[in-house]
Amino acid sequence: MRRPRHKTGIILAALGALCAFPVYADIPAARQAELRHLLDQDCGSCHGLTRQGGLGPALTKQALAGKSAIMLREVILNGRPGTPMPPWKSFLNEPEAEWLVRVLLGCTGSSDCQTQHDAGSSQGGTDAKH
Ligand code: HEC
Repeated sequence: MRRPRHKTGIILAALGALCAFPVYADIPAARQAELRHLLDQDCGSCHGLTRQGGLGPALTKQALAGKSAIMLREVILNGRPGTPMPPWKSFLNEPEAEWLVRVLLGCTGSSDCQTQHDAGSSQGGTDAKH
């Protein structure tokens, strides 16, 4: 007897890929302030206080246009091995990293990150496949 367990996995994976960040997790205001501070001070030490780049590349909305939000979240959480970009997962949980990506992409205030994000590029962000 084989149970179609793997199918569920595939469906879940597909869902995860489809909805980049389906639920905008509610980050408390105080934590948002901390995260902004982290972004300016810690990330800023490499990426520049205004995120125009330094040791690390620019993290402006323009520079990140067309990049996958999921990829960016993963880089923030896990760093990029072999480069100075360190992992932040001991400081940030997933929703917090997603929130930072939204800040970087300039779409924290609204729920239509995708629309704004797509405005500058022709690439649809919804069919991420491996
Ligand atoms: C010690 C320096 C350093 C710090 C601190 C740092 N980064 Fe980076 N980051 C880098 C470097 C260098 C790269 C480029 C890695 C590469 O060569 O691909 C990078 C890459 C990235 C990327 C991928 C950009 C792209 O275009 O693919 C993101 C997103 C990012 N960093 C976000 C952050 C955030 C958010 C923080 C703070 C929580 C942070 N970084 C802190 C050095 C740093």
